[in-house]
Amino acid sequence: MKNLLPTVGQCAPSVLPTGQNPYLPADARILRIQDLGDDIKLFDLRFTDPVLAENFSFRPGQFVELGVIGVGEGPFSLPSSPTRKGFFQLGIRRAGVLTDYIFDHLTEGDIVGIRGPLGNGFPVERFEGGDVLVVSGGLGMVPLRGLMQYLIDQRHLFNRVVLLYGSRSPEQVLFREELESMNRRGDADIVLSVDSDEGQQWSGKTGFVTDLLREVDLDPSTTHAVACGPPIFYKFVLEKLVHKGYAKDRIFLSLERRMECGVGKCGHCGVGYTFTCLHGPVFSYWDALNLPELIYT
Ligand SMILES: Cc1cc2nc3c(=O)[nH]c(=O)nc-3n(C[C@H](O)[C@H](O)[C@H](O)COP(=O)(O)OP(=O)(O)OC[C@H]3O[C@@H](n4cnc5c(N)ncnc54)[C@H](O)[C@@H]3O)c2cc1C
Ligand code: FES
Repeated sequence: MKNLLPTVGQCAPSVLPTGQNPYLPADARILRIQDLGDDIKLFDLRFTDPVLAENFSFRPGQFVELGVIGVGEGPFSLPSSPTRKGFFQLGIRRAGVLTDYIFDHLTEGDIVGIRGPLGNGFPVERFEGGDVLVVSGGLGMVPLRGLMQYLIDQRHLFNRVVLLYGSRSPEQVLFREELESMNRRGDADIVLSVDSDEGQQWSGKTGFVTDLLREVDLDPSTTHAVACGPPIFYKFVLEKLVHKGYAKDRIFLSLERRMECGVGKCGHCGVGYTFTCLHGPVFSYWDALNLPELIYT
């Protein structure tokens, strides 16, 4: 499995697994559509080319460009794990022209265009042999769910895996059943928290995800931390992690920017000296500090 992963930090290759030309999408069929929450759906997809379908591999944290002819194309993270072969998933939130079309017109059996995998992904080999602390806020759980599945599927390679996941309210907790079951099985220590339970039945914690960090007893010198969430989440989570003794090069963030081509050609995702589609969306906190506008805008 390990050998199939692209090298971390690499630039997008001129030939992608999905096609000879990085601009040319490969057809993928929508196998299943499930509601994940308010205005967010989980799509199971499979490439129509059987060889590509079985061999498609990626690194947790990478993304693909999904295109619909005559409508548009957009970048979406992969919330599934490369350890689960034959299909992949996308968690899509309704946001505008393309996603409205996907929600209102596409059904199971329809075909979309996929380019990828793109970007760098999490440096999972570096996590091997140590503990992994995953901190997620809101929709940040989409790419981090792929990472969690990867860590759990290769459980023997990692020591403790802890996930802290904060959402606004109970109905906004994504993948709740799956995460609770991982926790029950002892695959990972998972703490779910909501800002407010709004009077609903909620057995998890109430309060901000940053409060949960206080209770984490992992040794920062042998742990890698991964965080993904909205800009305000980073402000507090990164401060807390550093305060707890995590070195900035042991903290990894996944950051979204406006993207078009996804392969370093159009310049839309440029920040300072870097193109986030090539050198991201995953950055170490150390690298991101040199480009402050990367995190907070
Ligand atoms: C690396 C990466 C991974 C992403 N992963 C996911 C994912 O897993 N699930 C998901 O639902 N979305 C994800 N997004 C965001 C997604 O690409 C956009 O929501 C989508 O392209 C919007 O297209 P649209 O035509 O529906 O909306 P538009 O009509 O283009 O825009 C609607 C609104 O969304 C804003 N917007 C558009 N694109 C972005 C963007 N890239 N970042 C922030 N705001 C944007 C616009 O400013 C506008 O306010 C990701 C973005 C990036 C860069
Ligand atoms: S999206 Fe075109 S250069 Fe990054």
